[in-house]
Amino acid sequence: MHGTTRRLVAAALLALAGGTAAASDYVGARRCKSCHVAEYEHWKQTPHAQATARLTEAQRRDRRCTVCHATSAEDGLYGVQCESCHGPGRHYWPENVMKDAELAKAVGLLQGTEPAACDRCHTAETPRVTPFDRKKALEKVRHRPAEKG
Ligand code: HEC
Ligand code: HEC
Ligand code: HEC
Ligand code: HEC
Repeated sequence: MHGTTRRLVAAALLALAGGTAAASDYVGARRCKSCHVAEYEHWKQTPHAQATARLTEAQRRDRRCTVCHATSAEDGLYGVQCESCHGPGRHYWPENVMKDAELAKAVGLLQGTEPAACDRCHTAETPRVTPFDRKKALEKVRHRPAEKG
């Protein structure tokens, strides 16, 4: 128990220090699905889920593309998955952490509504006719639009 607490504190400090995530900090959408089936089923229908599949085979191996068109190509996590918006899940996915909103946030969970959840990929350079409007875009990606009105 003590060891776990210490690890979590260490992870929190790492997160606060602004350490960037190693590839292995991603656990993959299937892990999230085990507790969040509705969000998973919704996400599966969005263009984000197909963001790698739409590329050509050569582009799928090109890190200059997969850095935005995959969650972690190095880990075989294709498509813009949960963790691309909600942060790498290694430290927050266990249930005892997930149930503690403060702790989950401290070890990397993003709500999805923060600018940082989108801006890394939706930059001024990404191909678009009109500039990316995050507020409007959020309406398209949130999982329960009707309920949250
Ligand atoms: C073992 C079960 C479990 C797993 C696995 C899990 N979660 Fe959760 N998650 C929860 C619980 C419990 C909550 C608390 C809120 C609730 O009861 O729905 C939660 C809450 C959340 C929230 C809402 C946080 C907030 O403050 O509104 C997000 C976002 C989230 N999880 C994303 C994820 C992502 C992304 C993954 C995969 C990396 C994941 N979860 C894996 C159980 C889980
Ligand atoms: C900085 C992040 C980023 C990088 C790097 C990037 N893309 Fe994208 N790409 C995006 C985003 C974001 C969109 C969606 C634009 C929108 O609709 O707002 C997009 C859209 C696309 C689309 C259009 C998808 C569609 O059908 O709607 C294609 C094709 C594409 N990118 C190919 C590539 C290729 C090939 C590379 C590598 C050479 C690449 N991208 C690199 C972020 C990126
Ligand atoms: C493109 C970004 C994006 C992706 C990808 C994404 N989410 Fe979310 N998620 C959001 C946003 C934004 C919210 C906040 C919605 C709101 O407050 O209305 C959210 C909210 C949530 C919540 C809180 C409860 C709810 O339904 O609003 C959970 C749980 C969650 N996401 C889980 C997941 C899981 C699991 C996946 C992958 C299967 C996933 N998300 C993929 C952006 C994303
Ligand atoms: C890891 C990079 C990445 C992140 C993070 C990301 N996106 Fe995207 N997004 C993409 C790519 C790539 C596409 C193009 C997908 C395709 O069409 O193949 C895209 C497409 C979209 C689209 C166009 C498809 C549609 O439904 O109209 C919207 C809207 C969008 N993203 C909103 C968001 C929002 C809002 C966030 C933050 C909550 C976000 N994205 C976070 C990479 C990302």
